[in-house]
Amino acid sequence: MSPTFPNLTVVDHPLIQHKLSFLRDKETSKKKFKELVDEIAMLMAYEVTKDLPLAEVEVETPLERMTARQVAGKKLTVVPILRAGLGMVDGVVRLMPGVRVGHIGLYRDHDTLQPVDYYFKIPADAESRDFLVLDPMLATGGSASAAVTSLKRQGAKRVRMLCMVAAPEGVQRMLEDHPDVHVYAAALDRELNDVGYILPGLGDAGDRLFGTK
Ligand code: PRP
Ligand code: URA
Repeated sequence: MSPTFPNLTVVDHPLIQHKLSFLRDKETSKKKFKELVDEIAMLMAYEVTKDLPLAEVEVETPLERMTARQVAGKKLTVVPILRAGLGMVDGVVRLMPGVRVGHIGLYRDHDTLQPVDYYFKIPADAESRDFLVLDPMLATGGSASAAVTSLKRQGAKRVRMLCMVAAPEGVQRMLEDHPDVHVYAAALDRELNDVGYILPGLGDAGDRLFGTK
């Protein structure tokens, strides 16, 4: 039985699970992999944003005036962790065209598995924004934790994390380092192997997205 974590929601929608099965398949082409990451990100964003506050607005229909509702927070910011998180941006932005996009550049050192940061750019008013960090893979959790630490250093108060495949080790690391950050994943996998890859996983997300292996 897989462990349960108070900081994790597994988004178990049938369409997401269907697409995830193709994402995991080693025979899936680079083109198809990219399309699937995009589609799953969009479907997951729908779930992740289901508690966004609404505000009443007056609208004139062709027939009469009415009170309708619109998303109140206009300050949602998505932050992909480079590289693989980039593949999730378009899907989320298609659903919410008004969002701002920050970027955090991190890669995992192959030997130590420690994150190495090389880029950071987010909107200036971090205190008043809601952040959604995007990365398909939450493995040791080192990259996600470092990304959230960087956001908090700039004043971020409300952060969520959206990934496709999470390992128990990564979710636990996030619980210890950032218990206030809720993690949404399409799957909670079994474990990490001895070189830090998720099992069963889907391989190296960045390499499969960008064709670098
Ligand atoms: C992958 C992935 C995450 C990280 C997860 O990126 O996209 O950012 O590994 O591993 P962790 O939870 O153990 O930190 P990678 O370091 O391969 O960089 P890349 O996207 O530039 O290839
Ligand atoms: N990064 C990936 O891209 N895949 C894994 O399984 C672990 C880290």
